Amino acid sequence: MDPELELPAEYAKLVDAARDVRQRAYVPYSNYAVGAALLAEDGQIFTGCNVENASYPATICAERVAMTKAVSEGQRRFKAIAVVTATGGMPCGICRQFMNEFAPELMVIVADLERVNDIVSLATLFPASFNAQSLEE
Ligand code: THU
Repeated sequence: MDPELELPAEYAKLVDAARDVRQRAYVPYSNYAVGAALLAEDGQIFTGCNVENASYPATICAERVAMTKAVSEGQRRFKAIAVVTATGGMPCGICRQFMNEFAPELMVIVADLERVNDIVSLATLFPASFNAQSLEE
């Protein structure tokens, strides 16, 4: 059975949006296109793709593009993010740190072009984090 048939409609919509925006990825160096779709608590969806740069470290990942777009539009509370790649790769460490700032309980839906491979909480992917409390005396 297609595992996506089991997906809640809310998550299926996110995966579709992530697959769509992935086509806009600017990836002349890695050729590894990533699409992300972030569901805000109020139901709005914010999408992002990776945008690479000739100075490689200046590259921005899809997840951080989606979240910075959302935060710059006034959103700070999020429920879930879908991340789509050709291989079903997991979000990188920098993105885990970045997403943890706003949504340590975020659900992360990891998919490739055909199926969802994993649905896992950010708390599981990024335990014992460095966060705002770490800065408190
Ligand atoms: N990338 C993302 O967009 N998200 C991740 O979580 C992993 C890595 C991008 C960065 C770079 O453009 C390409 O994938 C290869 O590392």
